[in-house]
Amino acid sequence: MRPSAQEFQASLGRLGPGGYGRRIMIVGVIGSGSIGPDLAYGFLSALVREKGSKVYLLDIKQEALDAGVERIRGYGRKGVARGKISAKAGAALEAALVPTMDMKDLADCEYVLEAASEELSIKKIILKNLEEVVSPTCLIGFATSGLPRKYIAEGAKHPERCFVNHPFFPAWRSPPIEIVSSGDEVLDIRMMKTIKHLGKVPVRTADVECFAADDIFCNYISEAARIVEEGIANPAQVDKIVNDAIGGGGPFNVMDATQGNLLTVHCQQLMQEAETGTPWFKAPKILTTQGNSPWHDRKNPHDASHDEALAKVVLDRILAVLVARTYFVVDNDICEPAELNWLTRMALGFSKGLLEITEELGADKAAALCESFAKAHEGFVVPKSIKEKSLVSFRRNVKVERNGDIGTVRVWRPEVMNALSALTISEIHSAMVELEADADIKGIVFTSYNGSLAGADIMELAALPTPGECRDICLKTHPIMQHIAGMAKPVVAALRGPVLGGGAEFSMACHARIVAPDLVLGQPEVNLGIIPGYGGTQRLPRLIGFERAYSMLRTAESMNATQACELGWAHGEPDADPEAGAVRLIRDYLAGNAKIAPVNPEPMAIPTTLPTVDIGHRSLAIDKILVDVILRGLATNLGDGLEIEADGFARCKATVDMNIGMGNFMQNGPRVPAEFLNE
Ligand SMILES: NC(=O)c1ccc[n+]([C@@H]2O[C@H](COP(=O)([O-])OP(=O)(O)OC[C@H]3O[C@@H](n4cnc5c(N)ncnc54)[C@H](O)[C@@H]3O)[C@@H](O)[C@H]2O)c1
Repeated sequence: MRPSAQEFQASLGRLGPGGYGRRIMIVGVIGSGSIGPDLAYGFLSALVREKGSKVYLLDIKQEALDAGVERIRGYGRKGVARGKISAKAGAALEAALVPTMDMKDLADCEYVLEAASEELSIKKIILKNLEEVVSPTCLIGFATSGLPRKYIAEGAKHPERCFVNHPFFPAWRSPPIEIVSSGDEVLDIRMMKTIKHLGKVPVRTADVECFAADDIFCNYISEAARIVEEGIANPAQVDKIVNDAIGGGGPFNVMDATQGNLLTVHCQQLMQEAETGTPWFKAPKILTTQGNSPWHDRKNPHDASHDEALAKVVLDRILAVLVARTYFVVDNDICEPAELNWLTRMALGFSKGLLEITEELGADKAAALCESFAKAHEGFVVPKSIKEKSLVSFRRNVKVERNGDIGTVRVWRPEVMNALSALTISEIHSAMVELEADADIKGIVFTSYNGSLAGADIMELAALPTPGECRDICLKTHPIMQHIAGMAKPVVAALRGPVLGGGAEFSMACHARIVAPDLVLGQPEVNLGIIPGYGGTQRLPRLIGFERAYSMLRTAESMNATQACELGWAHGEPDADPEAGAVRLIRDYLAGNAKIAPVNPEPMAIPTTLPTVDIGHRSLAIDKILVDVILRGLATNLGDGLEIEADGFARCKATVDMNIGMGNFMQNGPRVPAEFLNE
C-alpha cells in the first residue's frame, strides 16, 4: 500500500539536512502483551535514526517476550516490504530492540513506560522494583486506561517523576498519548519533550478516572453492548449504523481488534465508583460474558441490514452517550476543547472530532437527545452546557494561549506537520484578531504544535478545479497575511524543523522570526509544478536579497538555521528554544531595545544582469511564470506584487506541468522528481 498524500506531508519532517529533533535515547517498555510491543515498535521507529538509541522490552514471561519480539520484527519486515522504511532502517530497528526479563537491564533508561497490567497492586509492585534500579532522574509513565495517577504514584520514592501516559490502539502508529502530569514543572516539561521525541503527541488531561478519551469510549462501547443485550440490534447492525453515521469502524469491530471487553468493564467500575459516578455506569453483563471472544463470527456473520427506524433508535442512544460524556469532559475541564476534539478523532477514529459532531447536531438536538436518554436511563447525567444549550466554541486547528501579556497563536495539526489548510488559515486570522483586540496582550508569538510548518495543504491545492479558484485562494489569503504584517503589536514567529512553502510564507508575514538550529527552510513549490502563492515570491527577495531568493525560489533548494540568520530571514542566532527567544525579542522590542518590522513593501532594485540559475529537472513552463512574477512583482510595491503573484499561481493551473507535479507528489511523495513536459 502506498502512503497517502497526508503521510507524505507528515514525512516532510524527515527531509533535508540536519534531521529534525534528534538525539540518542534509551527507553524501556514493561509488559509484552497486547500493547507493549506496539509501543516499543513506535518508539523504535522514532529513535532508529539516532545510532546508539535503545528500546528495552521487558516481560516476566519468556513466551510473551518472544511473541512481542516476533511481532515487532514482523512490523519491521512489513514496513520494508511496503517501502515505508528502508532495509537499513529495518535492520537498525531490530538491532536497537533489547528484549529482557531482568529489571536491572533498565538501569540506564531515561524513560520507562509501564504497560503490564491494569491491576493497581501490580503497577505499584512494578514501580517499587523499577525505582530500585533506575536513576532518580528517570521518568516513569503508566499506560493505564483508567487508574488515576494519584493512586499509582502514592508511596513512590519519587512520585514527582510518575505520570500517566495513556496510549491508544494501534499504539505503534496512533499519535496521541494522554498525559496526566505529576505537577512538577521541570519534569513536566521533560516528559512532554520525551513523548514528542518518541514520535507521539501528548494531550494533557486531568487526573480523573478514565481521563478524557476512555470515559467517552468505554461508555460508548457499554451503550452499544446494552443495545445488543436488550435485543434491539445485533452487533453487525450496530457497527454498520454507527460507522455509516460517524465512522470509527463500529464499536464491536473495535472491540474485536483490541480484545477490550474486560478492560471496558474495569473502566466502567472505576467511573461508577468515582465521585461523579452513578449506577448508570455499571457495565452491561454481556461485556463480561463475552470476555475476550469476538463479537463477529467471520465465517457466519450477522445480517447487518436494517431499516431507518432501527438506525434512528441505535444512533439516538449512541449519540446521546457520546455527546454527554464529551461535554462531561469539557464542563469539568478534563481536557482542553481543541485537543479533545482532535483526540476523539485521532484516538477513537471517528470521522470528525466529537465536538464537531455535536456542533453539527446543533445545541437543540444535542440537548433533546441527552434529555430523552436521561428520562429512560436512571443515573445518566446531562452535562450543564448541554442542558443550557451552550456549546463550547473552539478552533479545530489553531490554539490561542495567553501567558501574562504575551499571546501565542499555535497551529495544531500534528498529524500533518501543521499543514495550512484553508480552515487553518482562517483560524490563524481569527486568532490574531482575537489577540489584537485583547488589551492585556502586548505581543504575539506565531508558532505550531512543535514549531514546524509543512506548508499549504497539498490535498486542497490539488483539488482546486480552475485557474480562477487558484487565484481566489491566493487573493483570500494575502489580506490575512497583510493584516498580520500591519498589526501594531509585535508578531514574532518561533520555528523549528521543516518550515516549508506556505509555512515559510506565513512566517514572513510576521515582524521577525526566531529559529531553532534544526530549521529546514524552503520554498519547494516548483518541485510540485507550482509557484509560491502566499507571498513567497515577493517577501523572500525583500527579506534575503534578490540573488539568493531568485535561486531558492527557482530551484527549491533549502536553507539551514545558520544561513537563515546570516541572510536576515531570521533574527539573531539560532536559538534552541525559539518560543522563549520570540518572547525575549518581543520584550526587547517593547522596551525599545530591539528593532523589528514587517517586510519592507517598497519596490526593490533588480540587478541589470540576472544571475544564471540551473533549475535541474524542474518545469521550464512553471519557471517562466515564476521569473515573470518575481521580476514584475518586485518592480512594484508589495500589494501589487501580491496580485501579480496570485495571477501567476492561476497561470500554473493552465499548464500540463502543474498536474504532473501535483500528481507525482500525491503518488510518489517528495523524494521522486516529477517528469515535467515543460508545457
Ligand atoms: N491493550 C490495549 O489496547 C491498551 C490500550 C491502552 C492502554 N492499555 C493499558 O496497557 C496495560 C497493559 O495492557 P495489555 O492489554 O497489553 O495487557 P496484556 O495482559 O495483554 O499484557 C500484559 C503483559 O504484561 C506482562 N506482565 C505482567 N506482570 C508483569 C510484571 N510484573 N513485569 C513485567 N511484565 C509483566 C504479562 O506477562 C503480559 O505479557 C494496561 O494498563 C492497559 O490498561 C492497553
